[in-house]
Amino acid sequence: MAGPVLEMRSIVKTFPGVKALSDVTLTVRQGEVHAICGENGAGKSTLMKVLSGVHPHGSYEGEILFEGELCRFKDIRASEQHGIVIIHQELALVPFLSIAENIFLGNEHATRGLINWNETLRHATELLRRVGLTDHPETRVADIGVGKQQLVEIAKALSKKVKLLILDEPTAALNDEDSDKLLDLILELKKQGITSIIISHKLNEIRKVADSVTIIRDGQSIETLDVKDPATT
Ligand SMILES: Nc1ncnc2c1ncn2[C@@H]1O[C@H](COP(=O)(O)OP(=O)(O)O)[C@@H](O)[C@H]1O
Ligand SMILES: [Mg+2]
Repeated sequence: MAGPVLEMRSIVKTFPGVKALSDVTLTVRQGEVHAICGENGAGKSTLMKVLSGVHPHGSYEGEILFEGELCRFKDIRASEQHGIVIIHQELALVPFLSIAENIFLGNEHATRGLINWNETLRHATELLRRVGLTDHPETRVADIGVGKQQLVEIAKALSKKVKLLILDEPTAALNDEDSDKLLDLILELKKQGITSIIISHKLNEIRKVADSVTIIRDGQSIETLDVKDPATT
């Protein structure tokens, strides 16, 4: 069994008047799919925002170790530089921009300030292929469904050379067919060595993709369990 790629130790996060996380410990093994499960308001999203630098170092207590290294992210860009990419529950794509523009927003393929469109489109097409999309990269994001938008978010994560992909309730707005496609992709990315954390409270989903699950209740981690593959039990 692989060792831990991520350790979050005794994380405490307080907002004015609310203790969102009072003591959370999370250990994620290299290469696994780790589910986080818990009721609304339990602190799941806050924990992932602490991990990804949305809530920067200094705004919480506790320690984060990624690949054995102590991390003190000051913002999202800092966590992305380490290969940690979060896809938020409320998708962050710009609807009136194209798929390609969204994928490379802030990281454009440019030489001397000029965007290289041939390279942008070639790279976007390659990333879309990796997530199973055949849409033209110049399609506007507003013109594709929410299931495809979720896949574009993953393509964007892949463009950032993701090592740890965090998905916050990724199937909440998807129908069953789109949910299945997304879960299959998470399993495919696992084969490619990408570790994932998926927030979900759907047990069928957790059974399908997760190797282990951590349960969070009222800002505390309750326990971490191995998920047995129903096919082998
Ligand atoms: N930016 C914020 N400001 C104030 N309170 C917040 C903020 N983000 C989350 N909270 C509070 O922290 C608690 C945990 O929220 P959250 O992490 O979103 O839960 P979950 O994702 O498990 O549903 C809730 O009580 C929520 O209202
Ligand atoms: Mg949440």
